[in-house]
Formats: sequence, structure tokens, C-alpha cells
Amino acid sequence: MNEVVHFNQMKIQLDKTLLLYNAAMDEMVTRIQILNREFKIENNYSPIEHISSRIKSVESIYKKMKKYNLEVSLDNMVKHIEDIAGIRIVCKFTSDIYALVELIEKQHDIQILQHKDYIKNQKPSGYQSYHLIVSVPVSLKEGCINTKVEIQIRTIAMDFWASIEHKIRYKYEKDIPPHVQRELKECADIVKFLDQKMLSLNEEVKQGQSEPEDSMDNMITALKDVIQNQ
Ligand code: GTP
Ligand code: MG
Repeated sequence: MNEVVHFNQMKIQLDKTLLLYNAAMDEMVTRIQILNREFKIENNYSPIEHISSRIKSVESIYKKMKKYNLEVSLDNMVKHIEDIAGIRIVCKFTSDIYALVELIEKQHDIQILQHKDYIKNQKPSGYQSYHLIVSVPVSLKEGCINTKVEIQIRTIAMDFWASIEHKIRYKYEKDIPPHVQRELKECADIVKFLDQKMLSLNEEVKQGQSEPEDSMDNMITALKDVIQNQ
């Protein structure tokens, strides 16, 4: 076959595969936004501060396959690279992270392929986050194709740490000097302490506010009764 034709066919296949990951990512972001809105209506509080998403570049996918010693092919890419579609959810409190994981788990057509709790099992670097690999059904004209999405859920403080650490790691090309590693780990412990403090402070304030919230709930129930009995 003419090489140019062959190359073009490969490109079309790659574009179609990446389209799947894009669709799965968009679908998952929309679902998470809906869960957030629903949570807000029911609890008068949003567990999510912000959501970002990205598709891994073809260059990074290629580099990762090389790192894993895989033959570079579409099949290997789909089978072994789990973070082609990635979503990052940033919350205020650690409790929000677990609440969100529970809500995602309840989505009947989303399959959870993997849980990695780097909050309970902090990485030696100090990294904390909750990771999920999920499989999302995407409808194409050929039928429904389950597609993997990596979801990282973390607090604002964890996100701050991860972004600075990533920058430092990048600057040193992964060989971070030991004293910098130690200080980063110290910062991660401060992040952990801060998250725990903020959570307990919030719980305390919430308890103090329970009366007005209760009376608001009572008022809403009373209003609903009036409307229903009209
Ligand atoms: P990757 O080959 O990086 O995908 O690692 P993995 O397959 O073992 O998965 P893991 O859950 O450890 O990491 C996936 C992603 O989490 C990474 O691509 C980063 O975005 C993030 N991550 C994991 N460890 C660290 C860390 O020590 N520092 C920072 N800044 N991010 C991390
Ligand atoms: Mg990975």
C-alpha cells in the first residue's frame, strides 16, 4: 500500500481513538458537575471548588509507552495508558473528597476500575490525592465503547503542594536534591495538618450553626406542606 495512504489511515484511527477519550472526559465532567449541583441543592453546600480536565498529548502518550517498554501501537495505548483522559477535582475539605468518591461509585453505568487512596496511603514524596480510574460508556455510531478516564480528587492545600512539587521535580529533571525532598515532605505534613485543622474547625462552626439551619429546614418543610395542600 502507498505509504502516504497507510499513514493517513493511521492518523484517522488515532484521531478517532482520541475523540473517544475526549467524549468520555466531557461526559464525566458533566456528570460530576450535575452531582455537585444536586449536592448543593440538598445540602446548601458545594463539595467542589473547581474542575479541570485535559487530554494527554500524543508526545506524552508516546513517551509513556516507551517508558513502559511497550511497542508503540494503538492497541497498547488503549490497554496500558490509563491517564489519556484526565480530570482533576479540587475540594475544600478531605471529607468532600470521600463524599464525591461515594457519589461517583453510585453512578450505575460508570465502572470503577481502580481506587488509589494516596490520602490514607501518602506517597513517600508526600503526595496526597484520591485517584480513580473509571470506565465511561461512549455512544458512537458503531455502538457503545467503554473508555477509561483518570480522576484525581484533592483539597486546595493538596493541589497547591502538588503543583509546586511538580514544578520543582520538572526543574531538577526528577533528581531532586535530598534536602529539597525533605523540605517538600515537611510541607506535605503541614498540608495534612492544615487540612485536618480546617476540617475540624468547619465541623465545629457547622455545629454552632445547626439551629438556624434546622429552622430554615423547618421553614422549607412548612412551605412545601402549604404548597402541597393548596
Ligand atoms: P504515572 O506513570 O505517573 O501515571 O504513575 P502511576 O501509573 O503509578 O500512577 P499514580 O497514581 O502514581 O500517578 C498518576 C498521576 O498522579 C501522575 O501523573 C501525577 O499527575 C500524579 N502524581 C503521582 N505522584 C505524584 C507526586 O509525587 N507528585 C506530584 N506532583 N504528582 C504526582
Ligand atoms: Mg498512571
